Amino acid sequence: MGGTASEAAVGAAWSALRGLPHHTLAQLFAADPARHETLTRRIAWPIVPGSDAEAGMLIDFSKTHLSDEALTAFEALAEAAGFAAKREALFGGGIVNVTEGRAATHGALRGSGTPAQVEEAEGLLARMGMLVEAIHEGALGAIKHCIAIGIGGSALGPALAIDALTRDLALVDVHVVSNIDGLALEQAFAACDPETTLIAVASKTFTTIETMTNAASALKWLADNGVEDPGGRVVALTAAPEKAVEWGVDETRVLPFPESVGGRYSLFSSIGFPIALAIGMDEFQEMLAGAKAVDDHFRETEGRANAPLLAAFCDQYYSRLRGCQTRAVFAYDERLALLPDYLQQLEMESNGKSVKVDGSPVDGPTAAVTWGGVGTDGQHAVFQLLHQGTHLIPVDFLVSIAPGDELDPAHHRILLMNCLAQGAALMAGKTSDDPARAYAGDRPSTTFLLDDCDAVTLGALIAFHEQRTFANAVLMGINPFDQFGVELGKAIAKQIESGEGEFDPSTKALMAAAGLG
Ligand code: F6P
Repeated sequence: MGGTASEAAVGAAWSALRGLPHHTLAQLFAADPARHETLTRRIAWPIVPGSDAEAGMLIDFSKTHLSDEALTAFEALAEAAGFAAKREALFGGGIVNVTEGRAATHGALRGSGTPAQVEEAEGLLARMGMLVEAIHEGALGAIKHCIAIGIGGSALGPALAIDALTRDLALVDVHVVSNIDGLALEQAFAACDPETTLIAVASKTFTTIETMTNAASALKWLADNGVEDPGGRVVALTAAPEKAVEWGVDETRVLPFPESVGGRYSLFSSIGFPIALAIGMDEFQEMLAGAKAVDDHFRETEGRANAPLLAAFCDQYYSRLRGCQTRAVFAYDERLALLPDYLQQLEMESNGKSVKVDGSPVDGPTAAVTWGGVGTDGQHAVFQLLHQGTHLIPVDFLVSIAPGDELDPAHHRILLMNCLAQGAALMAGKTSDDPARAYAGDRPSTTFLLDDCDAVTLGALIAFHEQRTFANAVLMGINPFDQFGVELGKAIAKQIESGEGEFDPSTKALMAAAGLG
């Protein structure tokens, strides 16, 4: 990535970090009774643009093992790694994706970028908004359903946002289909009426085999079910508009986005079209506003006061200094059930690397394996390991103060109580004469307390994790914006299809048994 980093200073900062004494959480709280205040951050935004009343999210890092000395040492690491210059390069359109020679301009989609990039993004968004409104007003006939076809970054964000934000009302019933397994598409067909269904084909490259195969089958389904002009029901969301037109989509229904927006960072581009179709442009704009509030905080705040950077300090501490191979995310909110899936791609595809920006080997482990689910379900399934297992696993808990349901308030109170109890229990532990009933405690967690779980908050959460991922990459000296690791498997699948190429004995035998080749 652009910006300066001194290898010697980075090495010295890591050595200093490795030499720090280890303190338990109990010791850290005893040493600083105001630790909760010291290590809690709040990111807020106006409830109504321009008003003083605000909403936001509070992030409590106090139950992590970061001591004052560790934070000072991490700040020195950030400085040695050229964090401030790299952050400016990110927002300033610098070539931060060096292996592909590109900028990473997802920030511009929500107004955080160079004036030219922001203007381009606003123009593209306005075009998307016009199409969304035209469809809502019946320009393509009565559209009640949409099958949104895409995979990876072209599916996970829309799936998360639609699942989170359409619990009460969806303007259009959207089904996101990613897998090439025909069962996924058949399930969407069963839920939709072909007469009133729009097909949105989301693919940055417009070449991904899963997406193109699913798109062709969806068109065939429309035709087989009496739709006269199936092509007239397709919208393409892509950074390769010419390929979409070549494939047969009318130019007026191709919504482009810039090549410099990475797939897993593309939720706020035209890849978000199915979200806007489901929730409306106004709510989509609220997601952008939440993301912008986080960008502003990330860009303008230094050192440990910067919440995404502080989260990256925690990630690096547990992964590189405590040997944690995984990081768990448990949302105590049904609306965020797909957040762990979304974060898996964001963090693992971005930072699951073995070489630094200059091609040299990394200095330690890179992205932790991100996993998780919803609370309280997880408590009755996997939390045994978190509390008494041999792995040390930092956990992020997320919960909204405002309930999402309208049932007896007991539901939400129990949800909230349980979320807070888990962090407390992991930290406190419990002694017992019976070893099977003892809890070691001293296990870390971070709690995200959301005022509400609405569109603006979801946008903020997404941007928070994008910036956390970027900050982690800077601290490790790696490029989070390429993903060459996904290519080899795709190439070998093609070789299996063509039957050309040398295969190992195991794969050869499996191909024969499966009737391939
Ligand atoms: O195979 C990985 C990947 O390239 C992801 O990075 C991307 O989000 C996904 O495939 C889908 O790619 P596309 O949007 O080009 O279809």
